[in-house]
Amino acid sequence: MFDPVTLARENIRNLMSYSSARHEFGGSADVFLDANENAFGSPTGVGLNRYPDPLQARLKEELSQMNGIRPEQIFVGNGSDEAIDLLLRIFCEPLQDRAMIFPPTYGMYKVCADINGVEVDEVELTNDFQLDLAGIDEQYSAATKVIFICSPNNPTGNSIRISDVLGIASRLHSIVVVDEAYIHFSEKDSLVSEIDRYPNLVILQTFSKAWGLAGARVGLAFASSRIIGLLNRVKPPYNVNEISQRLIVEALTKRELVETWVDRIKHQRAELIQILNTFNFVRTVFPSDANFLLVQVDAPDEIYKFLLAQGIVVRNRNTLRRCDGCLRITIGTPDENKRLVDSLSQFQMKKSARRSAKQNI
Ligand SMILES: Cc1ncc(COP(=O)(O)O)c(C=O)c1O
Repeated sequence: MFDPVTLARENIRNLMSYSSARHEFGGSADVFLDANENAFGSPTGVGLNRYPDPLQARLKEELSQMNGIRPEQIFVGNGSDEAIDLLLRIFCEPLQDRAMIFPPTYGMYKVCADINGVEVDEVELTNDFQLDLAGIDEQYSAATKVIFICSPNNPTGNSIRISDVLGIASRLHSIVVVDEAYIHFSEKDSLVSEIDRYPNLVILQTFSKAWGLAGARVGLAFASSRIIGLLNRVKPPYNVNEISQRLIVEALTKRELVETWVDRIKHQRAELIQILNTFNFVRTVFPSDANFLLVQVDAPDEIYKFLLAQGIVVRNRNTLRRCDGCLRITIGTPDENKRLVDSLSQFQMKKSARRSAKQNI
C-alpha cells in the first residue's frame, strides 16, 4: 500500500499549519482568555461569542458511528466544494500537475482547477455515460494527481460502474475522488466502506441534497487518515461555523425523516419519468439515481423560457457536451411537480395549436 502523502506538494508536506487558540487548548477550563473573543456575550444571545471547535469532534463522533469508520477518517468542510478546492491545492503543483475529469460532470472540479492554475484533462463519458477506460489510459500521465469521478453523476443522473471506479483507484497512482453528493437517492452502495482498502480513495458527501441543509454549507470527505490529516492542515482554522455544527448534530438524530423524504423523492421521480415520456416533444428521459432528471427535448431553449415565464426554473444544460437538447429538472414536491407537468402540457397544446394553424393556411 502506498502512502498518499507522497503525492502531496512538497510545500504542503512541509507546512507548519496555523495553530488556533481552540486547537492548542483541548482540556477543560471555565475562564477562556486565550482567543480574544468578547467574553460578555453575543448580541443575538445564542452563545456565538466563542470560536467553534476547529476539528468538529462532536459531529465527527456521530458521523463515525453512522458510517462505521474512525473520526480521523472524516473531514468536515464548508460544503463539499471546500474539499474539492483543498484537494487540488494539496496535491497539484500549479502549472505543473494535472487533474482529470469526465464531462459532462459537475462544473466545480474544472473551475477550482482553473482557479488553482491546474491543467485539466477531460475524458468524455461514453454514450451510456460511463467511464471511457481506454481514453483514461491514453490521457493519463505521471502528472495526473487528482481524478474526479461523480457518481451518481451531475448532470446525467446515472451511477458510474463501481468496478471501473475501484479499478482506477487500484491501478492509478493518483488521488481518486468519488463525489457521492447524490448517493442517498441511489440503490447502489456508497464506497465509504472501501477507504481502508484504497489509501488514495476520497469519498465526498454533502448535507446539501438529501439532508435538506444546503443553506448550512456542510460537506464531508471520507478517506485514509493520512489524506484527512493533510486536509486538516490546509483548511482555514474555523472552516465550519458553530451554528452549522450544532444543526448537523441535531439533523443526524432525524435520519428517519430524511429517509422518508428520500423515499418520496424517489417515488416522485418514477412518476415524473412516466409523465414526461408522454409528451411529444420529449425525446429521452435518462435513467436517474439522483434527485433530478436529465431530459432531452426538441426545443430546450424555448421550453426553458416558457417555464421561466410561468415562474418555474429548471437548468438549461443544452450547451454542455453530450447534453444536446437537455434540461436538468430537480424533483420537487408533488405540488411543484404538478405545476411543472401542467406547464409542459400547456406548452404542448400551444405547439400543436400553432402547427395546425400553419397547416390551415
Ligand atoms: C456533484 C456535486 N458535488 C458537490 C456539490 C456541492 O455540494 P456542497 O453544497 O456540499 O458544496 C454539488 C452541488 O450541486 C454537486 O452537484
